[in-house]
This record gives sequence, C-alpha cells and structure tokens, in this order.
Amino acid sequence: MKGAKVAVVEMDKLGGVCLNRGCIPSKALIASAEQYKKMKNSAAFGISLSAPPIYDWLAMRERKDKIVSGLVGGISSLFKSHGVEHFSGFGKITGKNEVTVIDEDNNETKLKTDNIIIATGSRAASIPAFPIDGKRILTSDHLLELEHLPKSILIIGAGVIGCEWACMLSMLDVQVTMVEMLDHALPMEDTDSSKLFERELKKMKVDLYTKTKVESIGPADEGVQVKLSNDKVINVNQVLVSIGRKFNTEDMGLEEAGIKMEKNGSIKTTADMRTNIKNIFAIGDVRGEILLAYTATHDGTVAVDNALGEKVKKDYLGVPSVIFTHPEVASVGMNEDEAKKKHKELAVGKFPLRALGKAHAENEIAGEVKVIADKKTDKVLGIHAVGVHATEIIHSAVVAVNRGLTATELGSIIFGHPVVSEAVMEAAHDVHKMSVHLAKKK
Ligand code: NAI
Repeated sequence: MKGAKVAVVEMDKLGGVCLNRGCIPSKALIASAEQYKKMKNSAAFGISLSAPPIYDWLAMRERKDKIVSGLVGGISSLFKSHGVEHFSGFGKITGKNEVTVIDEDNNETKLKTDNIIIATGSRAASIPAFPIDGKRILTSDHLLELEHLPKSILIIGAGVIGCEWACMLSMLDVQVTMVEMLDHALPMEDTDSSKLFERELKKMKVDLYTKTKVESIGPADEGVQVKLSNDKVINVNQVLVSIGRKFNTEDMGLEEAGIKMEKNGSIKTTADMRTNIKNIFAIGDVRGEILLAYTATHDGTVAVDNALGEKVKKDYLGVPSVIFTHPEVASVGMNEDEAKKKHKELAVGKFPLRALGKAHAENEIAGEVKVIADKKTDKVLGIHAVGVHATEIIHSAVVAVNRGLTATELGSIIFGHPVVSEAVMEAAHDVHKMSVHLAKKK
C-alpha cells in the first residue's frame, strides 16, 4: 500500500502462531466449550432440554480447523490483491541485503532486498525436567490436535496459556490441576483480579497449587504421576507444560550477520524496531519485549514506516491484556502494586458485576471492574476487569488510559445501558465514592 516491493518468506502455513496454533484456534474451541456450558445451564434461562447435551470434541476441532483454514486462505488472497510475493521455505539472512530461502527439497533461492524485517516469533518453552513427548507431556500445540480429551490433566504454569486451557478443559468436564510457582494464578495481573479469578477456578473445581513446583514427572498406569514440592503426588492422564516461550532465532544466520542478541535469545532492537544493523528490523515476540500478536502488528507498521524513510517510534501506551478465561480477565495500564511504587497516593474505585442489570440478564454476575487513579491529579493509571465480556469492555478503558483521561472525565462520559461496559464508568465514579448504584460507603 505504501509502494514497496514486498516478499514474505514462511516455512509453515501463513498466519503464524496466532492464526494457526494460538489466538484463533484456542478462541474457536473456547467458544465451543462456553456453548456447551451454557447448554448445561439452560434451565437457568427457562429452557429445558429433553436430554443432557453431549459434546463431540472432533466436531469442535473440525469447526476450529475450518475457521483457521478460511482465515489462512484470506491472507493468501490479501497477498495476491496487494502484490505481495510469498516464498515457501526457511529464510536465512546470508548478507546485509540478502535472504536465502531454503525449501523442503533443500533448493535455495536468493532474494536481494533493501530492508529485512525479522518476524519469526516464539514457540513453547520446555525444560529438561519435563520432556515433552506429545503423548503424555504436551504443549498447547499438541492439545489443539488431540484425538480425544483426557479425563484429567495437570497444567504446569498458571499464566495466560495455562489458565485459558484450564477453563476450557474444565468446561469440557476434564478434571484440571494447576501448579504455579508464583503466589497467584495470572501473576502478572492485578492481585485483586488474580484473587477473583482464583475464586472462580475453585467454583469450577479446578485444583490450583500456588507457590508450588513440580519435583518430578514419571510414568503411571493410565498416564503420569507428578510429584509436587508440597509433597502431594498426583496421577493424571496428561500434563500440559505452559511455562513461557522460547524465541525463534536459531540457524537464521543472525550471528553471522552481526545482529546483536539478548542472553535469552531474543533480538535487541531500538524503539524504531531496528536491530544494530540499520536496514535489518525485528518485530513481535522475537524482540522479547511483549509477546502479543497485536503489539507485533504495531511493531510491523513502525518497522515498515522506518524502512521507507519515515521516523517513527513504537507507542505502547495503553496496551491491553485480554485473557480468554472463564470469566474473562482484562486490563490496561498499571496494576495497583506498580502504581503504588510510582505514585504518592492512589484513589481506587471498584464496581462489582453483580450490581449490573445486564450481567444478571446474562446470568454471569461474577467479577468486577477496578479503576486506579492518582489521588492528586485524578489521572487514570490502570483499569482491571474480571467478568463476562471483560476482553471487550476493556477497550473503553484502553482509550481512557491511552488518552490520559482523569477518573472524573471517564465517569462523565455517557455509556449505553444496559451493557457490561457500564462497570467501567461506575468504577470511575467510585474512585470519588460517587457511584449512585453502590451502597453508601461508611
Ligand atoms: P506466561 O509467561 O503467561 O506464564 C507462564 C507461567 O508459568 C508463569 O506464571 C510462571 O510463573 C509459571 N512457571 C514457569 N515455570 C514454572 C515451573 N517450573 N513450575 C510452575 N510454574 C512455572 O506464559 P504462557 O502461559 O506459556 O504464555 C506464553 C505467551 O503467550 C505469553 O507471553 C502470553 O502473553 C501469550 N499469550 C497471550 C494470550 C492472550 O493474550 N490472550 C493467550 C495465550 C498466550
């Protein structure tokens, strides 16, 4: 669109992790699991079923695959319409202005170029203590392609992937145990959000062990036996390892090209997405800063603009976190612990979803929205949401944080009614203890 001649080198299907093994397939399966849960609870909506609902995992997988392949095809069509050339194979940087494509038959094609953008992403991290075999010890990539679901699973790591899969599998009647070495599930979120979410996990009968490590994993009759640092021994059919990601930077000729790397294998970049070599850029997970598809998209536009001669820097002000658990967890800006360190005094407002008509109408009253503001300036520092549609409603909060609104300004905006987003406005009112829909605070 900006007039450049572009070639994309990809060794797998177009669309990367997000489309093929991450965001989209997992959300398609979560939607199926939520539908199943809703049908099981249909009596609450005044609907009786002649027999209990039964799910078909393979049909769910097929639906997921159809969605993914449709979108992958969409990228192909977009490439054609914009004149982007697609080379299938492994890309290796073989010169400052040269990329060699090695295809599956080991044929090499050399591409000459003014600029190179590295967008090779990341993959599930593993550690030798948990040897991933794809049968008993799995990554989320394996889960997506299972022939049938296990009766029980133990998840190592209660971060984003661990918690999304825990909720999905639990909704599909799998007995889930989670082990997290830090203090809480979703430890990077505001502690109030983590605690609220943990309460919901408990209601779903997910066993969560925090401040706990896995000591060993060994074979057992019907799967694996896992020994925990709290002396518990748990027998499960399968184990999911979701302990973070590893950067895809190996064998790409980066060292030979003189590209500077961090110790953890990610690529060092400046705010304009340049590596230490002026015409070679890196974007997305491989930079190791934030591992999210949507910040990678932003990185991409910054890199392209700079490659074409503009002077643009990344702007990460107000990047949301959207986690598709049940209930959903989302946030933007600082959590309360971070805000306490940087600001003298805080004013915090909270609004529970159980005080919202729309949440009752949807039979989803768990959760709350929390607004953190600087007490003196009234500026909104962070907004945290747990509950139904949290990943959607957070976007009004994103605008507030990105545009530097005060709690008073956010509270004075007219929100529609009845919507779950009202909780954002109400929590902003509660920063000054002025929410008329909450009982008067003593
Ligand atoms: P993560 O960094 O979110 O969580 C890993 C968790 O494992 C942490 O809580 C960590 O304390 C724990 N851990 C590490 N080693 C452990 C051990 N030996 N025993 C017990 N606990 C251990 O990484 P995750 O879940 O693998 O996700 C990878 C990336 O993918 C993240 O950066 C995330 O942002 C991204 N992602 C984003 C999604 C979204 O935006 N909705 C969905 C899924 C993934």
